[in-house]
Order: sequence, then structure tokens, then C-alpha cells
Amino acid sequence: MKYEVPARVREGAATPIHDLDRYREHYANAVNDPDGFWLSETKSRIAWKTSPTQGLVGGFDEVKEGPLSWFGDGTLNITESCLDRHAKSTPEKIAILWEGDEPGDVRTYTYDELLAAVSRAANALSELGVKKGERVIIYMGMVPEAAIAMLACARVGAIHSVVFGGFSAEALRDRVRDCGAELIITQDVGRRGGRDIPLKAVTDEACVGASSVKKVLVYRRTGDEIPWVDGRDVWWHEALEQSSDIHEAVEVDAEHPLFILYTSGSTGRPKGVVHTSGGYITYASYTHATVFDLRPDDVYACMADVGWITGHSYIVYGPLANGATTLMFESTPLYPDAGRYWDMVERHKITIFYTAPTAIRALAAKGDEHVTGKDLSSLRVLGTVGEPINPEAWVWYHEVVGGGRCNIVDTWWQTETGGIALSPIAPATPTKPGSATLPMPGIQPSLRTPEGAIIRGPGQGLLCIDHPWPGQARTVWGDHDRFVSTYFSHVPGAYFTGDGCRRDADGYHWITGRVDDVLNVSGHRMGTAEFEAALITVEAVAEAAIVGYPHPIKGQGVYAYIVSQPGESINEASLQAACREQIGAHARIDSFQVVTGLPKTRSGKVMRRILRKIAEGRGDELGDVSTLADPSVVDAIKDGFKV
Ligand code: PRX
Repeated sequence: MKYEVPARVREGAATPIHDLDRYREHYANAVNDPDGFWLSETKSRIAWKTSPTQGLVGGFDEVKEGPLSWFGDGTLNITESCLDRHAKSTPEKIAILWEGDEPGDVRTYTYDELLAAVSRAANALSELGVKKGERVIIYMGMVPEAAIAMLACARVGAIHSVVFGGFSAEALRDRVRDCGAELIITQDVGRRGGRDIPLKAVTDEACVGASSVKKVLVYRRTGDEIPWVDGRDVWWHEALEQSSDIHEAVEVDAEHPLFILYTSGSTGRPKGVVHTSGGYITYASYTHATVFDLRPDDVYACMADVGWITGHSYIVYGPLANGATTLMFESTPLYPDAGRYWDMVERHKITIFYTAPTAIRALAAKGDEHVTGKDLSSLRVLGTVGEPINPEAWVWYHEVVGGGRCNIVDTWWQTETGGIALSPIAPATPTKPGSATLPMPGIQPSLRTPEGAIIRGPGQGLLCIDHPWPGQARTVWGDHDRFVSTYFSHVPGAYFTGDGCRRDADGYHWITGRVDDVLNVSGHRMGTAEFEAALITVEAVAEAAIVGYPHPIKGQGVYAYIVSQPGESINEASLQAACREQIGAHARIDSFQVVTGLPKTRSGKVMRRILRKIAEGRGDELGDVSTLADPSVVDAIKDGFKV
């Protein structure tokens, strides 16, 4: 089933890619002359201090020798693209439209006000001793000050690493240590769904054993009483009050790191994905303007959290670089009820709305009545991100939310890609429910066999990208070898995404999910190894193996196979507590099974393929298990299976 682009989405497009012919033209230009294509995009979009003449230097074949670069001879400060020029041309335009946890609790920052606030914060950071190239951890909820903190770091050339406010003290400490941050910016207490999140208290706990931290800057959100460490802790409002609202942005090279964002992979240790300045901001700006067809009067709302890449690229950097009005939302789709999103669309007259399939499924399950009473006529583009969307949820979004009048952009991308890589372009691309459709100009995807051979035409395989693009991650913080081995060792000369993908006869892409040991639960990316490392800290647990299984709302659920220590019994609360303490509140086990042993090869490797099949309820399709050290464990596991 194919959906044509509704006329009102096609008409009046701001992007030059307003139909498929234009798309093909732009796509071909980007393939034939990547340097020319991207140099022209960056010069028209970004305020450079020294305009670049170089495009790409290096490539996937040479990534072993060191990171590749884009626009390498240019210099800039990305905040001038996000703030100063808009403060000059559209000072009164709302840059950040914030809606707090309680409906109608609204605050706004115009571009003029945002520039002033970021300048004050940048001066405050300098006063605290933060210098170019130093790392700053930001551990906050969804308040405008989180975006201001990110931009202030960028303003002084410091490298920020935002840690999602749901992560535990352990997880926060690991990240502080890995990047050697000297400053943490946090807030007293976070608010979400009517609940308090003790961000400062968790920060204090994380600082125990994180000796690099010299200062903690605390934004006052709720005014609750919090513990205070004299000499280390500084109030945000006091530091800003004492600072000037004028700040000269620090000039950095195009390849100067803008931020580190930790993400999960197949091993227990999250990796710090590094994004740089010039290429990242160019790609975030280009994809945001193009995919959503951003128009001057749009009210753009992305429901992600700044703790994830979607919040970086499509709440903060892309929209602000494009001079848009971007909404920041502190709460959840279900607070105080399942009509919250649609209530906000009505009140703020949102035109572009971007959320995750999990939220759409959860809301669809609550019934249409939460949607149908609201005036959603302002909506023009609906987006999804983070996980595959099932066609039923897609159709509900299209019909019930969009009234058939909007185009849906199912955007596939990753922390590592920096921005959207496969997606419809709102005014141009007919859609099919569940397909991320076509590659963005500049993205050259290929499907590969496990041996790395290219699959041409319709088919299914491992999704790779064959040519660099400006927004891609350059390295893993402190471990370039890990960057090379994770992404460039499977298929020499190509970037391996970790996803499987099918391509149909129209060249449309259908993501089939991760093919590595990474889970995608409610759009949250988590490693099976992280769960396993957490679970074996429970004394009664001898061994643990985690797999994902299909979950009707979350996309994937977490299934744990646990081998207990001899004579010990397992209680669920201790398993959940270990995951919560080691990882965070978002890491929950959905189902677990105590087993006598795990299926292992003779060399001791756990055969997850078998465990995955059983958890999916396909235990009778296991095929040959004779290579296992002890094939009888499989029958015992199958007998005890309970989902
Ligand atoms: O498996 C893909 C899935 O999310 C993974 C990337 O997760 P993360 O780095 O946390 O970034 C999420 C936000 C960009 C991918 O490897 N994924 C993301 N978008 C989609 C998707 N799967 C299917 N369809 C999508 N639109």
C-alpha cells in the first residue's frame, strides 16, 4: 500500500526537493560530487568564520589511520549559526517554546533572549575555569536550561556530554570517568509525569569516586531542599546573574569535537561517540530543513529527550541552526492523560510533530477519544524515529492523528549517523507504512551478505553505508581502535550500521531491526551485555543471558535467562534493583526464567540465537543444536518458557 503526498503538504514547499524528480536530481548531485554538494550546502546554511575550501579528506578505507574530516580548513563557532544571526534577523521569534510537566506551564525564549542567556552561561562557564576542549557532563531534565547549557559549552569550545536523566549514579559515574569531566551541570530535582527525579542527589552519588569533578553547577527547577557541597557546588542562577550577557564566541576548527554521546553496543561498556562541529551542524541543519520541509512559520515539536541523539540534532542543533521555533517538553505522553500530546498540538498550533513508535502504540491503545476531540488541523508533517513502526500504528498515526492530511516521515538513523539517513522527504516522497523509504542525498546505503558482498536490486541483508557524509561520528572518545573495529571491520571500506534491512522493488528500505547484541526497548538503545553485567552483581545469580523478544507496545521486551548459584533462589525485585542501580530506571526486565544452564558451544560461547528463538515463542524452529556442549539444556529451557 502506497500513500501519495497530500496536496497541502506538497504545495508551498520550502525545500527545493519538492517532488521525486527533484529528489533524484539532488541525490545524483551528491553522489557525483560529494565535495561540491556539501560545500555548497554548508556555505549557504552555516555562519563560518573562515569559509572552508576542503570537502572530505580521508575515507572509509583509511579510517584505521585516523578520523576523516569534512570542511577541514574552515573555522566557526556553531552557536553563531544557532543564535547570533537569528537574534539579528528575527530577534522576537520564539526559539524555545517550553512546556513543563503540568499542562499549560509554558516558558519561552526568543532568539534575542536565548542568545543573551547562552552568553551569560558561557561567561559563567569561563569564570568556573572551563576551557576549550574540556569535557562537561550535563545531567538534567527537559528544561530550556539544558539546551542553554549545551549551547554555552559549544560557545566556549568545551565538549559536552549529555547523560539522560534516567541513568543511575553508577552509569553517570562511568561516563564522567570515561571523558574526565571537571564540571557537571545538573538541576535540583527533575519533574516528569507528576514525579520527582532527584538529579542533584544522584549527581552527588556519582561524584563519589569520580575524582576529576571540580565543580557542580546546579539549576534550580523545583526549589526542593537538596544536599550541598560547599566549595564545589554553584547555583546556576547566581553564576548567570553575575555574568555579562555579551560573549565573544570562541573560534574552533571544523573538526573540533562538539559533543560526546554515550551509546550502547555489543560489549558491556557504553562508547562515547564523538561528533565534531562543522560537519555535524551542516548535516543536522540540512536534514532538519529538508525532511520536515521546515517553513518560516512552523511550530516544530520533537518529543525526544536531550539525553539522546534525537534531542541533540532535532530539538536543539538542527532547529536552532534553521532559526525555527522548537518545542521542549518536560513530561510524558500519558500525563495527566493520553490526550497530552494532542492538547499541546491544539494549544501551540504545532505544524510538525516528531515522536517515537512506542508512544504512538501506547496512545493508540488508549483509544481514539483522546485524539478526536482536539483541533489538530495545524499539523502538516508527522515524524517517527528510534525503532521500526508497525503498519497498524503507522495507519493510526496517519488517519486518527493526521486525519489523512499529513505526510509521515519515518526517519531511520543512529547516534553514529548524527542525523537522518533514510527517510521520506515530506513534500516529495510517497510513503508505505513501516518503510523508511529512500536515502537522504549524500547517503549511499548498501545491503550486504554476511560475507560483505553487495546485494543489488530487491533483497535483504546487512545495512551498510558506503561513502562518508558530514554528520557521521568521527571516532569513539579515547578509543579510535574500537571505532574502527565496531563499524569498519565487518565490511572493509563501508560503515556497518548493526541493522538488518530489506529493499523492495521501488528501492524502499524496510529496517528489520538490530542484528547485533543491542536491544531497542521503547526506542531506548541498550546492550544485552550491560544487562548481563548488572545481573551478575546479584549474589544469587551465577550466570545471565539477555535477549529481546517482540513486545506489543515497547517494540522489544527484555527477556532474562538466569542461572542461580547452587542452593540460592532468585527473586525478581533483586534483579530489577540491580538493573536500575547499574543502568537506570529505563532498564527493566519484562520477563525472566530461571534455567539450569545456558546453551553453549564447546568453546563456552552462549548461543543467543537459540535463546532468542525460544523467547520469541519459536522454540520448535531451533534447527541443529548438536554443536552444543550439552544439548539437553535446550529442552529444559523450552519446558520452562513462559511468555
Ligand atoms: O535499530 C535502529 C533503530 O535505532 C537504532 C539507533 O539507535 P540510537 O543510536 O539510540 O538512535 C535512535 C534515534 C535516531 C538503529 O540502529 N532505529 C532508529 N530509527 C529507526 C530505527 N529502526 C527502524 N526504523 C527507524 N525509523
